[in-house]
Amino acid sequence: MSSEGVDLKKRRFLTATTSVIGAVGAGFAAVPFVANWQPSARAKAAGAPEEANLSGLEEGGLLRVKWRGKVCWVVHRSEEMIKDLASLDGNLADPASAVPQQPAYCTNATRAIKDKYFVAVGICTHLGCSPTFRPEVAPADLGGDWKGGFYCPCHGSKFDLAGRVYAGVPAPTNLVIPPHMYKSDDVIMIGVDGGAA
Ligand code: FES
Repeated sequence: MSSEGVDLKKRRFLTATTSVIGAVGAGFAAVPFVANWQPSARAKAAGAPEEANLSGLEEGGLLRVKWRGKVCWVVHRSEEMIKDLASLDGNLADPASAVPQQPAYCTNATRAIKDKYFVAVGICTHLGCSPTFRPEVAPADLGGDWKGGFYCPCHGSKFDLAGRVYAGVPAPTNLVIPPHMYKSDDVIMIGVDGGAA
């Protein structure tokens, strides 16, 4: 065997050994790196989905659920409330929810996964005030064509019971719908996507 052959073998052996050590070294190095990227318990709590049981929420009622420091609403809409939504389209700025203020699975006529439950972030899309829930039909202060919805006392923006903004008010867009899904018929998880199911 020529010395060149021996050198070549030695080099191959050294290369192989170095690769193994390199891989092991990378393995050890990767552990603390991955560990550093795990969210802390506090961060998890701040961004974790929020679960709520809606079985006690009566028709026409509203439940507040805090998620990521924001108040989200869940409204249990009655059949009448759901039916009235379509009659309002002509009064609204974005009746078909063309502006993506909601997940794709809520870009529909009721802006919801389940027609009876409307979920939204309770923050006015004008300057961030908290709108008031006004489910009553035709109250004196909101006019004869009011079918229930949300009224922002700061500058008078109005939203229907699907969070769609009325035309001609300061708020430019519909209310935001957070990602959410149902764990079961009446148990909702706010803050996590599960598609339309
Ligand atoms: S913040 Fe709601 S109308 Fe201005």
